[in-house]
Amino acid sequence: MSMNLQEKTWTQIEDYLKAKTHIIIPVGSTEQHGPNGLLGIDYMTSWEIAQEVGRKTDTLVAPPLCFGMAVHHMAFPGTITLSPLTYIQVVTEIIQSLAKNGFKQFTFINGHGGNIAPLTSAFCQAKQGYEDYDINLLNWWLLPDVIEYEKKVFGDENGFHATCGEISVSMFISPVAYKQIPHMEFKSTANRPHWPMAPHEFRATFPDGRMGSNPSLSNAKHGEMLFKLAVNSICQKVQ
Ligand code: NI
Repeated sequence: MSMNLQEKTWTQIEDYLKAKTHIIIPVGSTEQHGPNGLLGIDYMTSWEIAQEVGRKTDTLVAPPLCFGMAVHHMAFPGTITLSPLTYIQVVTEIIQSLAKNGFKQFTFINGHGGNIAPLTSAFCQAKQGYEDYDINLLNWWLLPDVIEYEKKVFGDENGFHATCGEISVSMFISPVAYKQIPHMEFKSTANRPHWPMAPHEFRATFPDGRMGSNPSLSNAKHGEMLFKLAVNSICQKVQ
């Protein structure tokens, strides 16, 4: 059964809150993922993972926040960003709205590295006035089982952005959106540049948008494995 909040009525939410006060909030980004990856990868992955975790654990899932803090990707068309301050404010108000409704446990499933710092700030901001709730952040690509699998099958060519892992998961989720990815030149980013980067610095350093990844290693089979590993790990934490 779907546990998606937008497919419920307010009376169903009121009933849910009598038994359980936990909600999953998927967050991501709409941003460039190299010449082959979909712009929506970061929110599509967290949204699909969140829905599966919601079904398996009978936990309500909020609609996904499709926009994130992606300032550094702004030199690539199609990217949409919120400024760090706006993102902090949006996340804070989502938490506070749900807290006023009676929710007390918030599990954020995140699909985008650039969101980590402003999410953490938003959690501090939100806790200023409504202190009796718990907020947890789970970055699916940083789960130990996911890291181990990616290391085994992609090694150093997984990279840091437009990674083989995230592109594989999106191939599993949206197979029709992908054509075969041709062989690509792989450049290691062992010496990572200073961070954060302005949009023009990012594009000058990573001209096609990838950060040391070789997406030609990606496929839907790996994506399915990574999806299942992420769902299982998160289910254990949510239960
Ligand atoms: Ni991504």
